[in-house]
Amino acid sequence: MAIAIEFSHIRKSYGDTVIIPDLNLQIEKGEFVTIVGSSGCGKTTALKMINGLYEPTSGDIFVNGENIKNIDMIRLRRSIGYAIQGSVLFPNMTVEENISYVPSLWNKNDKEKTKKAVDKWMEVIGLDSSMKDRYPSELSGGQQQRVGIARALAASPDILLMDEPFGAVDAITREQLQNELKSLHKKTGITILFVTHDIEEALKLGTKVLVLDKGEIEQYDKPSEIVQNPATDFVKKLVEKQRRACNLPDERLRECEYCGAYMLS
Ligand SMILES: Nc1ncnc2c1ncn2[C@@H]1O[C@H](COP(=O)(O)OP(=O)(O)OP(=O)(O)O)[C@@H](O)[C@H]1O
Ligand SMILES: [Mg+2]
Repeated sequence: MAIAIEFSHIRKSYGDTVIIPDLNLQIEKGEFVTIVGSSGCGKTTALKMINGLYEPTSGDIFVNGENIKNIDMIRLRRSIGYAIQGSVLFPNMTVEENISYVPSLWNKNDKEKTKKAVDKWMEVIGLDSSMKDRYPSELSGGQQQRVGIARALAASPDILLMDEPFGAVDAITREQLQNELKSLHKKTGITILFVTHDIEEALKLGTKVLVLDKGEIEQYDKPSEIVQNPATDFVKKLVEKQRRACNLPDERLRECEYCGAYMLS
């Protein structure tokens, strides 16, 4: 299986404070990796090192087999989609201009091609085309997040980094976005790294779940393994919390979508 991203002896420190001591990980192409761990454990730092926004203190990162030290930063960032929590849209550009920002750089002489790309991604992510001419300030938070995701996808990346992208939306919109992203992943087969604070979301979306604590890997496994065979006490506690989040007594755990599927299967 081809490797999309590899961390090899990655260390990241700020002054004397070590955030990530020695990260070694290979992520296969087409995997949907959800990343969970306590606040401050280094999730955002790990993502930002992949697209060169942060530089590791030492070690190497490979993207599609190429050491990113040897890749031109602009080329690297254009090939990796990046969607983060909250609005990171250009406020003075319309929805259409925001989404077409990267494709229009490539299709300078083919405006029609860019237009088609915008239509396609707006549809995929569930945005009505009537919103094209609106400015970010004229959209709801959830709509802004969709535009942010459409913009990341419009660059046709084969790797998509998402840092708590559904943080600021209500439960129903969040579920819609989760389902859209999941089916998009199935359709396109892109590699996704998705940071979340929500273990339920991590288990639902991930083909693999990466549990980090203090910059170290606690477990990197399929959701069912994470739940059935937690590798450490940290993972056990995380899963236990999820198991108990439904508040059902033991004899009724089967009625919970997650406890039932993962704890008792
Ligand atoms: N520029 C910086 N200088 C010093 N320390 C930093 C800097 N950026 C991040 N840190 C520290 O590095 C650690 C990891 O930060 P990071 O943003 O990766 O955490 P995280 O896992 O994404 O947390 P959260 O879940 O809260 O988003 C934190 O303790 C943070 O305070
Ligand atoms: Mg973070």
